[in-house]
Amino acid sequence: MNLKPIDSPELLNLAAAWLAREEDSQWLHPRNAAQAVTPEWLKIAIQRGGDVLRLFTADRDEAPIGVVGLSEVDRNYRTARIWILVGNKSFHARGYATRAASKMLTFAFRELELHAVNTWIVEGNPSVRIAKRLNFRLIGRQRECHYIDGEAHDRLWFDLLDSEHREI
Ligand SMILES: CC(C)(COP(=O)(O)OP(=O)(O)OC[C@H]1O[C@@H](n2cnc3c(N)ncnc32)[C@H](O)[C@@H]1OP(=O)(O)O)[C@@H](O)C(=O)NCCC(=O)NCCS
Repeated sequence: MNLKPIDSPELLNLAAAWLAREEDSQWLHPRNAAQAVTPEWLKIAIQRGGDVLRLFTADRDEAPIGVVGLSEVDRNYRTARIWILVGNKSFHARGYATRAASKMLTFAFRELELHAVNTWIVEGNPSVRIAKRLNFRLIGRQRECHYIDGEAHDRLWFDLLDSEHREI
């Protein structure tokens, strides 16, 4: 499993198409899934520097199966927010999201020299268990702030310090 930069129009289209799918983006909004995710919008977001995106592959070949991102990257305070999406559903629940997020955290702490990475997860989303496996600590609950099909859900906030990260 490798992380790959989004460095061609084809890869940009692929990532934008995955991020535009309502059944997935409803869990991410507004981190990286504002109303209309287009390849152009994504390209600008990456160029601005506040978002660092990588595609991740499976083990058997180099074809991307999902996208993992750091948003609100702040070089001054050395913080960012991580999110992840498995685009190719035939690779769901095989451990790839956990490993890709873990690799992205290594990149965040080693290459970007960040100190603290946070994330919010809508209560009930399976990635709460991923966050716990990655050593994230629960730091709070933001109540009834996230709407899915008109129903309000809580967001659970987690964070992880560089000293607490062990790559899986
Ligand atoms: C949330 C999401 C990223 C999870 O992806 P996933 O592919 O199911 O994640 P993983 O495979 O890493 O983990 C899922 C389960 O597979 C299990 N698993 C199955 N085979 C495995 C293997 N060979 N190795 C490791 N784990 C395996 C894991 O133990 C884990 O079990 P759990 O239910 O106890 O957590 C995916 O559903 C998604 O893209 N959702 C839309 C976007 C989203 O909600 N993102 C999260 C908010 S940032």
